[in-house]
Amino acid sequence: MTAYLMDGKKLAQKLRESMKKEVAMLKEQGITPGLAVILIGNNPASRTYVNSKQKSCKALGMNSLLIEFPDTISEETVLDKIKELNDDHSIHGILVQLPLPVHISDMKVIDTIVPEKDVDGFHPINIGKMMTGQDAFLPCTPYGIMELLHDSGISIEGKHAVVVGRSNIVGKPIGQLLLNEHATVTYCHSRTKELTTYTKQADILIAAIGKANFITASHIKEGAIVIDVGINRDETGALCGDVDFEQVKDKASYITPVPGGVGPMTITMLLHNTLQSAKNQLQHS
Ligand code: GUN
Repeated sequence: MTAYLMDGKKLAQKLRESMKKEVAMLKEQGITPGLAVILIGNNPASRTYVNSKQKSCKALGMNSLLIEFPDTISEETVLDKIKELNDDHSIHGILVQLPLPVHISDMKVIDTIVPEKDVDGFHPINIGKMMTGQDAFLPCTPYGIMELLHDSGISIEGKHAVVVGRSNIVGKPIGQLLLNEHATVTYCHSRTKELTTYTKQADILIAAIGKANFITASHIKEGAIVIDVGINRDETGALCGDVDFEQVKDKASYITPVPGGVGPMTITMLLHNTLQSAKNQLQHS
């Protein structure tokens, strides 16, 4: 069997086309959705992601504000900037690119963003709402994965989903979203013993490990749905995922490629959340 390719690039384009129309309609009503991105320090990967987020915002007709700080900036200055953006009516989404320098607390930064502008879906209020199945901003990568699964017509109810990785950004929330849609969920991580025992039971396998080509054909069962969240470089410097695509594609029923799978969906859902926040403002004005 050769797996069906879940094309995140194509779905992202389709969703962005429809969002572009919604942005134009909102502008006619006097609201231009605005995203503020705070970038601290000089991490090249963070800079690449931030540039891409800004470019995507502009392509949709949204405003994008970049605030850059050197990595020597004090935590207090960053928190003050967030408070200023919280009160700025032209800003609908606030995102602080992670990771942060060690002297700045992720938790304090995230807690300072008002939940109504937390388009990353990282604030404890949004996480709590997600856990209890209430309307909330969902974290962008897990949200994008759910959209890909839905778009592919995959039914989630009753399936065994195995999540490898337990980060706050991907692993933990994707397990929760799958559980919300009635999957049976198992979490695995770096201290899991006999990983293959679990991954081989997966109807849906989420690989969010951060190690190039880690998941091989021997990890999965025939016909599994395999979602690759990894963005790594292999020994030749080429972009690759956490899944050994060449091996796994012949055993899985569905698979996401890297690049072109989950990646394009992450920014798309960030745009979606920012647009949603602007629409919420219109409703409450
Ligand atoms: N760093 C890596 N992924 C993300 C993300 O989704 N949001 C933010 N703010 N930082 C990140």
